[in-house]
Amino acid sequence: MRIDILTVVPQLLESPFGASIMQRAQDKGLVQIHVHNIRDYSTNKHKNVDDYQYGGGAGMVMSVEPIASLIDQLQSEREYDEIIYMTPDGDLFEQPMANGLSLKKNLIILCGHYKGVDERIREHYITKEISIGSFVLSGGELAAAVVVDAIARLIPGVLNDETSALTDSFQDNLLSPPVYTRPPEFRGWKVPEVLLSGDPSKVEAWREEQAYIRTKTRRPDLLNE
Ligand code: ADE
Repeated sequence: MRIDILTVVPQLLESPFGASIMQRAQDKGLVQIHVHNIRDYSTNKHKNVDDYQYGGGAGMVMSVEPIASLIDQLQSEREYDEIIYMTPDGDLFEQPMANGLSLKKNLIILCGHYKGVDERIREHYITKEISIGSFVLSGGELAAAVVVDAIARLIPGVLNDETSALTDSFQDNLLSPPVYTRPPEFRGWKVPEVLLSGDPSKVEAWREEQAYIRTKTRRPDLLNE
């Protein structure tokens, strides 16, 4: 999978993709992430990427030209499945959307900044708008990093243990059960006996029960879906 991220602040995306699982996924060639600085596509001499909004009002708007020429350039090189705009007024990002996007081949993700992007970009280029939650970030970069991370870990081979993405919280509309590791007792706090029993069917039954209890108490809405 190839993901092209369009931003005016590329530095914000260096560390999320430069370590741990995301770095390994790229080293293995399973995910290609290309971060593009929209400023490089500005044609005026000050390299501006934003301007005052028509009609007045505070806040700058991301200009149409540099973004259009960057997307045109990318589209002349390959076909994209989706051109995504990160924005608080987009569709809410949840696990089913991550699952769907993880099956795509080429994605563009545009990160919004300032007051947002000139509406003509949304009308003529954007195919999908995504919000990661009902709150406002300073820019779309952190939101894009969240989306890319959630997508990339679903690609076969990215996680060491491939089954672990399948047992994630939300994949079956259940939260994950509690987990423990050594030691079996710490300050008198004991690991549940059943996990030490060595009986796989008992362990499995306990985990299912705990997942259900956890979901019922924390996220009962998931059980109604
Ligand atoms: N940009 C600013 N806030 C955002 C949010 N909640 N989701 C996606 N992009 C954003």
